[in-house]
Amino acid sequence: MYSIQVDSLSKSYGNFVAVDGIDLEVERGTIFGFLGPNGAGKTTTMKLLTTLIAPSSGKINILGIDGVKSPLEVRKKIGVVLQQPSYEPTLSVEKSLEKYGMMWNVDSKTRKMRVEELLVAFDLVDIRKKKNDDLSIGQRRRVQVAREFMHDMDLLFLDEPTVGLDPSARRNLLDYIKARVRDGLTIFFTTHILEEAEYLCDKIAIINRGKIIAVDTPEELKNKFGRQKTIKMHLEQKQDVSALLGEIPGCTIEYDSGTVITIHSDRSEQVLQDVLRILASSGISIEDLSVVPTSLEEIFLSVVKNSNESNNSSSK
Ligand SMILES: Nc1ncnc2c1ncn2[C@@H]1O[C@H](COP(=O)(O)OP(=O)(O)O)[C@@H](O)[C@H]1O
Ligand SMILES: [Mg+2]
Repeated sequence: MYSIQVDSLSKSYGNFVAVDGIDLEVERGTIFGFLGPNGAGKTTTMKLLTTLIAPSSGKINILGIDGVKSPLEVRKKIGVVLQQPSYEPTLSVEKSLEKYGMMWNVDSKTRKMRVEELLVAFDLVDIRKKKNDDLSIGQRRRVQVAREFMHDMDLLFLDEPTVGLDPSARRNLLDYIKARVRDGLTIFFTTHILEEAEYLCDKIAIINRGKIIAVDTPEELKNKFGRQKTIKMHLEQKQDVSALLGEIPGCTIEYDSGTVITIHSDRSEQVLQDVLRILASSGISIEDLSVVPTSLEEIFLSVVKNSNESNNSSSK
């Protein structure tokens, strides 16, 4: 049973394609992570799925409801925490929660109960009487996320909910989300932090430049990408070594116009040995060398680059 089903969904702004033909299926009672660098199209996708903006083309089904034809029906059944801060400056923390519950027609007894529960769960008890205006950014974010749990919903969308939170508040929030999912809630969650997605999500989609470039369980993604390292080296002299290094298997190599060579590989130790051997045997000297874990952004770029290159062997 799916909570979210999306077919060839696209959104353009003028000539610019922000979301480019994505397909998605999110199973009920799971946490789906939407992971990508800034500008990838995460927020735009969230706005499409929550019916805040209309797609340029494609189909959206949310909880069995057609999101394009019946946006209001969808909005009654979902929770949404957007990326932008949203709060009433003069309202206290507890009043903010209370008022949000009223907006959703939650009865007063349930409201009281939930306010107390959420104040504890989001570590807001000590600041319950403080006005939103007097809170730190992280505290405000916690209130913004907490209040969404005031009402009943089948599906919750969270757009980078942990931005601005310190590590312990972040962990707290992720654990609270986990517990709610065990109770049957489905969550669609965006982040640009791989570790966070790994910790929380049953499934992760990686989006880059409006396209989904991988969907898998965290374990599988880690197997595929987690071992990647970046080798960076400076040659002593400017020299074209692309023909020499072109034969080394299991890596992608970028050459700048000068002396810098960047190599991405998930078998970096062997690749490094090959590179050093080949350069040494050709009498080419290296000035500087470093090996670091490939950043997520670099992984995205190399995955996209690979997918563009015509079917060159063993990518599975
Ligand atoms: N209303 C808009 N008009 C024009 N371009 C937009 C609009 N909203 C988003 N974009 C562009 O779409 C791309 C994706 O944005 P967004 O979905 O916010 O990315 P993310 O949330 O992954 O950082 C960005 O290049 C952004 O500048
Ligand atoms: Mg965003």
